[in-house]
Amino acid sequence: MNKNVERILFTEEQLKNRVSEMAQEINKHYKGEPVVVVSVLKGSVVFAVDLIKQLDMPVSLDFICASSYGSGTISSGKLIIKKDVELDVEGKNILLLEDIIDTGETLHEIMKMLKGRGAKSIVTAMMFNKPARRKKAVQADFIGFDIPDEFVVGYGLDYDEQYRNLPYLGVLKRSVYEK
Ligand code: PRP
Repeated sequence: MNKNVERILFTEEQLKNRVSEMAQEINKHYKGEPVVVVSVLKGSVVFAVDLIKQLDMPVSLDFICASSYGSGTISSGKLIIKKDVELDVEGKNILLLEDIIDTGETLHEIMKMLKGRGAKSIVTAMMFNKPARRKKAVQADFIGFDIPDEFVVGYGLDYDEQYRNLPYLGVLKRSVYEK
């Protein structure tokens, strides 16, 4: 285990098994219909790589890099797009992949944008769901695991751009970020 990780929440094997279950659920949902998988950079890449190999419908893959910044407590968040999708989403079934849903702002804004571009359908799959900090109700179609409100790293999730490569999901020691 990494020396900065306090404890493991989900082992590599637990994550692998859950991703396989999710892939089966998603295959069942689409029944062979083609999808455009949109992976939200950077965190969801690890999940996306593991998941798409187990999808059985025709799959196109694209990426978006965006963050949402809430503007105050009442108004809705604004999406800052650092890298947009390259494929035309109009009339397509979109499978939107996220590593974690926290406040829900990012997913909410990306969904709004894709809907506005005429996507035929949007289905969301998130590996981790942290309901404690939710600000925006989000459409969560496929959830890997609900997680507690702790600082988690690994399986794509970072602290200061580190730890994305850990094959498990771990809780980061407080001493690492409380300096
Ligand atoms: C994380 C995660 C989601 C978002 C979730 O991305 O990948 O996109 O935050 O948070 P929210 O529900 O509060 O909007 P981050 O902006 O940390 O970028 P990264 O994926 O490159 O680490």
